[in-house]
Amino acid sequence: MKELVITRPDDWHVHLREGAVLQDACRDLSRYFGRAIVMPNLSTPVTNVALAEEYYAKIKDAMNLLPRQFSPLMTLYLTDKTSNQDIIEAAQSEIVYGMKLYPSGATTNSQSGVVDTQGLFPIFEAMQREKLNLMIHGEVTDHDIDPFDKEKVFIDRHLEPITREFPELKIALEHITTKDAVQFILDSGDNVASTITPHHLVYNRSDLFRGGIKPHLYCLPILKRSSHQIALLDAAISGNPKFFLGSDSAPHSIQSKESACGCAGIYSAHAALEFYADVFDQMNSLDKLEGFASEFGAFFYGLPKNLDSITLIREDWKIPEKLPIGNEWLVPMMAKETAKWKVANP
Ligand code: NCD
Ligand code: ZN
Repeated sequence: MKELVITRPDDWHVHLREGAVLQDACRDLSRYFGRAIVMPNLSTPVTNVALAEEYYAKIKDAMNLLPRQFSPLMTLYLTDKTSNQDIIEAAQSEIVYGMKLYPSGATTNSQSGVVDTQGLFPIFEAMQREKLNLMIHGEVTDHDIDPFDKEKVFIDRHLEPITREFPELKIALEHITTKDAVQFILDSGDNVASTITPHHLVYNRSDLFRGGIKPHLYCLPILKRSSHQIALLDAAISGNPKFFLGSDSAPHSIQSKESACGCAGIYSAHAALEFYADVFDQMNSLDKLEGFASEFGAFFYGLPKNLDSITLIREDWKIPEKLPIGNEWLVPMMAKETAKWKVANP
């Protein structure tokens, strides 16, 4: 196949940041995505509707001069102090699509996140009642748990009890990385789904150490062994609507990645869709890309599909060694490598 026309896709998990970075992140994303669920982990977390409205306005401003726009779907950041009133306001808001649970300390800007998941049960109850979605970074933060096991332990200790207690609560387990997560999603009701990133499909943990340590492949949840990568690939191409696109594109400057204490996050907004297309092509499953990228996420969140379409062509192009982002530079996913698919009608 040389050409593929699909309904315009959406990104159900992305980091756009603020300030000078915002416009560049929006430009890259808007090349092919129609909507994006925007993560709230700013340096001052987006914990309530008023802050989400401010952030939404900044995103709209940043997009003003761009040739294409996308619709930002906002999320709020849960803390141990999130109140019932916050939930009611979020549910009434026209721009908020869910609450994001970061276990405190799990990832970038998660310090204000949730310490006591159990303590949040009344909030989950309110969310279930108000039909407000829950998005989860599914990793425990205990230092005695091996980093490669943190997702599975989170599922066993926290996610399983949450899904049991709140059978109607719509939950997206974000950026899944293990066969355990795939199995959990398969075993759960239709109210539980998941996003899969391009980097967890393209790489496994061996790539982190191939020829030396690779800080630009460091993300959270960390890349896992290849048997887990294979489980994710199988889930992505399965045509099961519980698995859909969420790039988790997360800009970090070169300086902050190439450091004695490097940040977690991989930037893929420059070519995420093309990377997914390549993965699906390699799996002989291009016919499954449209469901994964353009249908299942919208279906899960109860939104219509986008009305327009995009065309992907099979054409080699080189990913730059680095990209300007705000006032700095970053190393994008697949830097210096060749992408095999290209979006034709930006
Ligand atoms: C994300 C970021 O940089 O904001 N980093 C990452 O490694 N994925 C946060 C997150 O989604 O965990
Ligand atoms: Zn993320």
